Amino acid sequence: MDNKDITAESIQILVADESHERYVDTILHTIEEAAKVRGTGIAKRTHEYLANKMFEAKAVIALAPPAEPGGDMRFAGFSYIETWGNKQYVTTSGLIVHPDFRGLGIAKRIKDMTFSLARTRWPHAKIFSLTSGKAVMKMNTQLGYQPVTFDDLTDDEAFWKGCEGCVNINVLRERNRKFCICTAMLFDPEEHLPAKIPQNVLDRINRLEGRITNSQELRD
Ligand SMILES: CC(C)(COP(=O)(O)OP(=O)(O)OC[C@H]1O[C@@H](n2cnc3c(N)ncnc32)[C@H](O)[C@@H]1OP(=O)(O)O)[C@@H](O)C(=O)NCCC(=O)NCCS
Repeated sequence: MDNKDITAESIQILVADESHERYVDTILHTIEEAAKVRGTGIAKRTHEYLANKMFEAKAVIALAPPAEPGGDMRFAGFSYIETWGNKQYVTTSGLIVHPDFRGLGIAKRIKDMTFSLARTRWPHAKIFSLTSGKAVMKMNTQLGYQPVTFDDLTDDEAFWKGCEGCVNINVLRERNRKFCICTAMLFDPEEHLPAKIPQNVLDRINRLEGRITNSQELRD
């Protein structure tokens, strides 16, 4: 199928699984090329890392119809989710749409799917985003993210290590991780509840549901 015949409806958005590992190298290549065009650095991801995301049902892939009858479905877009700080925080990362398929609403559909996946798997986690991309800021805002300062994000070292491949890493370091070029945005699930339930009531509910015992509560 010629690209001019591609419609948004013909693109499938799926939670990726093992069968999609064959697209990983194309995904990595497309991410690297996009970073070059934007002049930004990029968190280094390996084949194994992205393949694991697929195995763990933490990745979303967009596939376009084959170029020729009987051909393979074509890679159109990708993103994945990751938890930080003992699953208190989640990010949706690595959003990429192949240049051949941009402007069709694919990024939005991928973002909606990764957001739902994160909310379903870790309903109490805060979801955050550190981005310089206008499209991503727009989609985050539509989903209810708010701009925040960096101290509202996770202090998990593993997350911040991801910034080391970025061309602006010195800006981040010089400012003790308080500011950088990227905008921090956060979706706090608690802010989307009409009233805050006091911690002692949450503890009681957890006890009733057997999630914690009295002795655990004292220790924590
Ligand atoms: C950014 C990117 C993912 C957008 O993919 P896409 O499928 O073309 O985006 P969509 O068609 O789903 O658009 C989603 C929204 O973003 C907006 N948008 C898309 N590209 C934009 C751009 N370059 N600048 C500003 N807004 C943009 C769209 O208008 C749309 O908003 P709307 O819902 O209010 O109409 C794609 O261009 C890409 O992969 N770029 C390179 C990698 C990158 O920048 N990733 C983001 C890392 S922060």
